Amino acid sequence: MGKRASFGGRLGVLLVAAGSAVGLGNIWRFPCELGQNGGGAFLLIYLVCAVVIGLPIMLAEFSLGRMGQSNVVGTFRRVSGTNKYRWIGYAGVLCALLIMGFYGVVCGWTLDYVYQAVAHGFSSMTAEELSQSFKDFSVQPVRPVLWMILFLTINCVVVFLGVKEGIERTSKVLMPLLLLLVIVMCVRSVTLPGGSEGLRFLFEPDFSKLTPQVVLNAMGQAFFSLSLGMGCMTTYGSYIGKDINLGHSVLQVTILDTMVSILSAVAIFPVVFAMGINPSSGPELAFITLPNVFNQIPGGYIWAILFFLLLSIAALTSAISLLEVITAFVSEELKISRKKSAVYATVLIMILGVFASLSLGVWSEYKIFGFSFFEFLDDVTARFVMPLTGLSISWFVAWKVGRKRLEKELTNGHTIRAKYFAVFLFLLKYVTPLAIILVFLNQTIDFF
Ligand code: TRP
Repeated sequence: MGKRASFGGRLGVLLVAAGSAVGLGNIWRFPCELGQNGGGAFLLIYLVCAVVIGLPIMLAEFSLGRMGQSNVVGTFRRVSGTNKYRWIGYAGVLCALLIMGFYGVVCGWTLDYVYQAVAHGFSSMTAEELSQSFKDFSVQPVRPVLWMILFLTINCVVVFLGVKEGIERTSKVLMPLLLLLVIVMCVRSVTLPGGSEGLRFLFEPDFSKLTPQVVLNAMGQAFFSLSLGMGCMTTYGSYIGKDINLGHSVLQVTILDTMVSILSAVAIFPVVFAMGINPSSGPELAFITLPNVFNQIPGGYIWAILFFLLLSIAALTSAISLLEVITAFVSEELKISRKKSAVYATVLIMILGVFASLSLGVWSEYKIFGFSFFEFLDDVTARFVMPLTGLSISWFVAWKVGRKRLEKELTNGHTIRAKYFAVFLFLLKYVTPLAIILVFLNQTIDFF
């Protein structure tokens, strides 16, 4: 077998992993969840989850992947030397497929907004019209589906160009630009008259809103936003060079991702309150609030184009990582060429995506446990599949890999120091699994 492709250098690793983590989860899903789960208290629990659950699992996934040098399923086989733990990998691949089923739809929305920003801008529209126009758009049977198909085709092409040329190059240029733009929007948003109410909603936790449901949602959001619990970071770990300090990379990715989430919320909630939009309006929240910000900035026409373009690209670097999980699995395990694997996976995703998109419009009367198919995919993966798969991955790394091998991986063969190792192992063995289990128990008790 030839040498496995790898990311070039420390900056490459950081930007690619952050490219996966930073995406619609930060700018679209995080504010939406925050609004639906009561604001500040959710933010606080989210931060706890990112530290107690996110950090250790990401480090576990990176080291597992780099040890295994294979796709998720192959990694479990190679690291354990048996076929017994393959199912964790299969769960991951399945989860990637389900996530892409709805993620692709939202990616398509971002492209439509790029088009709208170019074609007519948003400046002539009031807050109400912006909200109505999103609703009219998202329930249409054809237009969102076409944008989704276009997006997924671009995604397929990038993955098929390969790890280094495709994925790394895209991330390196565009990630920093997106960060800059979000900061500009924050500044404008917090200075809106009436916006301070939004900041209070965000930063003054109201603990009476804290239910077991909110805690479960915050944990799900942490998994989703950090791209954990399905082998995405495991797959990326297999492309990380042996000289990279994994501990540092994990810390940087988590901090960056969390920053973008908080900044997005700071850009969105002042507008929500200044314009009288309902904070719990759901998936449309980002799409109906942000155009209002551009309307308040000189040169808003250009800002809007730039923003939605960068949002599409952030979505793309995340979608790439999801497709990469499936593609690496199909091509390495089923021995099909990378290109064919990427195409097959994309077609499957498109089919799921059509159902997800139509479930918001013409098929909205069909419900699964009271959810549309779109919401069902989103909810079930984030709240159940990812935490459970994440639990299995952390259990495997903590208890099956063995302390010696893990320490060797994290110290790059004892060439660097990993001062945090003891803390990490303690978290991974006891604290993280316990935290996940408690959140579930808490939820189950609440249910009965
Ligand atoms: N983290 C990405 C976002 O915030 C989405 C994503 C990419 C993801 N890869 C993942 C989510 C793997 C869960 C698992 O938009």
